Amino acid sequence: MRVNLPHDSVNGENHSVVSEFVLLGLSNSWEIQMFLFCFSSVLYVSSLTGNLLIVITVSSEPYLHSPMYFLLANLSVIDLIFCSIATPKMICDLFKKKKVISFGGCMAQIFFSHAVGGAEMVLLIAMAFDRYVAICKPLHYLTIMSSRLCTLILVLAWVIGLVHSSTQLVFVVNLPFCGPNVLDTFYCDIPRLIKLACTDTFKLELMITANSGFISLGAFLLLVLSYIFLLATLQKHSSGGSSKTLSTLSAHITVVILFFGPLIFFYMWPSPSTHLDKFLAMFDAVLTPFLNPVIYTLRNREMKRAMKRVFRQLVGLRRVT
Ligand SMILES: *[C@@H]1O[C@H](CO)[C@@H](O)[C@H](O)[C@H]1NC(C)=O
Repeated sequence: MRVNLPHDSVNGENHSVVSEFVLLGLSNSWEIQMFLFCFSSVLYVSSLTGNLLIVITVSSEPYLHSPMYFLLANLSVIDLIFCSIATPKMICDLFKKKKVISFGGCMAQIFFSHAVGGAEMVLLIAMAFDRYVAICKPLHYLTIMSSRLCTLILVLAWVIGLVHSSTQLVFVVNLPFCGPNVLDTFYCDIPRLIKLACTDTFKLELMITANSGFISLGAFLLLVLSYIFLLATLQKHSSGGSSKTLSTLSAHITVVILFFGPLIFFYMWPSPSTHLDKFLAMFDAVLTPFLNPVIYTLRNREMKRAMKRVFRQLVGLRRVT
């Protein structure tokens, strides 16, 4: 494997002088910052609560012990991690004059967001497969979606996430950063970061587009096609129980579009120079993890009932102690 070393021996300079990056944040206007502060704090706390409630509900209600709910609870675990990567720092930074992130912190954000994002992608595909089995092979559902397969899917999701993330990070960590260290956004991500490297990053940009862009576009198309196929199948054999299935499917489709829309925009867009991508990033960081539990629970009566019960128990417990 060839890696371009940052210490360029030809002109004898040590390029790696940047030890931290300056983040410009989302806006300088006090009103917008105030709005963002309230908006993202409320969403962040709600995401934590909502996703935690899903995890607790699914693990504590025996009748929710089915592959579909296990995958959903695992998606909530992923959302819990995902919304905690960039959002808390962004909220703390909002009113600081100078927002900085260390080189290591920046790499950590990139590593975790891609690892978790990759795992989420695999999990969303697994959830589509789960619905495929439930709709097209209902009699074999429990034999096909065995607990062994579910565990395998989870292990696979995290392995793919980690491999995807580390292959990209290997290249980014070794880039020489010598000059400007200002990132016009509120978190570290590759498309903006590699623009700061003191080297020609054209090939690297292509690699990133392939690794992040085409993978997300491919997964997105695969998911959309499978859901279209499932909807068509359902249409053909429409029976009494299909409205419930239909609402589950539409919840899945909404989450898929919310998750992949911004991703595809970031990595396939030629130059990240508009302000739109910053706000989309914000959307991805705080709104998607918040919407997942909302979408899945509002459209699912079983889940809603179970969550209410768990919530009541939690509140009741606190009152007793
Ligand atoms: C994630 O899925 C596995 C395998 O189905 C399951 O055993 C586990 O309980 C799930 N995790 C949560 C938090 O529900």
